[in-house]
Amino acid sequence: MAGPKPLPVDSQLAEGGRVYAVSCAACHLADGEGMEGLSLPLRNSKWVLGPEDRLIRIVLHGVRGPIDAAGVEANLEMPGMGFFSDEEIAAVLTYTRSAWGHRAPRVSAPSVARVRAETEGRGDSWTVAELEAVRLE
Ligand code: HEC
Repeated sequence: MAGPKPLPVDSQLAEGGRVYAVSCAACHLADGEGMEGLSLPLRNSKWVLGPEDRLIRIVLHGVRGPIDAAGVEANLEMPGMGFFSDEEIAAVLTYTRSAWGHRAPRVSAPSVARVRAETEGRGDSWTVAELEAVRLE
């Protein structure tokens, strides 16, 4: 068998919670409510609950310019975190799609690998217009 075995479901969530606490909570806060002038809410965000192809891009390369989530608007910049492995990004996104009462589908490491390959060579963060133009599988 090639590559590491996928983590069992509950280990993926636990790993995602760890990555979230270390890498996302500083800006989006532990409760996912975000903070004005620093970030946006992830709780009840259409970006978190919506198509994984957009959400994965946001974590890989970041997002900049006007954007709104859960009724809050921002015009800031989030740095990309493509240095995380496919497994770590899948885990943290699965965590955000399961925490705070969310019930959105999990994100798998192969999905992150696919999006990473599709966006290879990209340096810039995404704008909302670009994310909305992404062709969904
Ligand atoms: C340094 C602060 C910072 C960190 C760390 C950070 N973000 Fe963000 N995030 C932002 C900012 C700022 C925006 C809004 C950018 C804009 O205005 O275009 C944003 C936007 C987002 C969005 C889209 C809008 C929304 O609220 O749904 C998602 C999804 C997101 N971040 C997820 C994450 C995840 C997952 C992590 C951890 C892997 C993370 N962020 C880490 C600052 C951060």
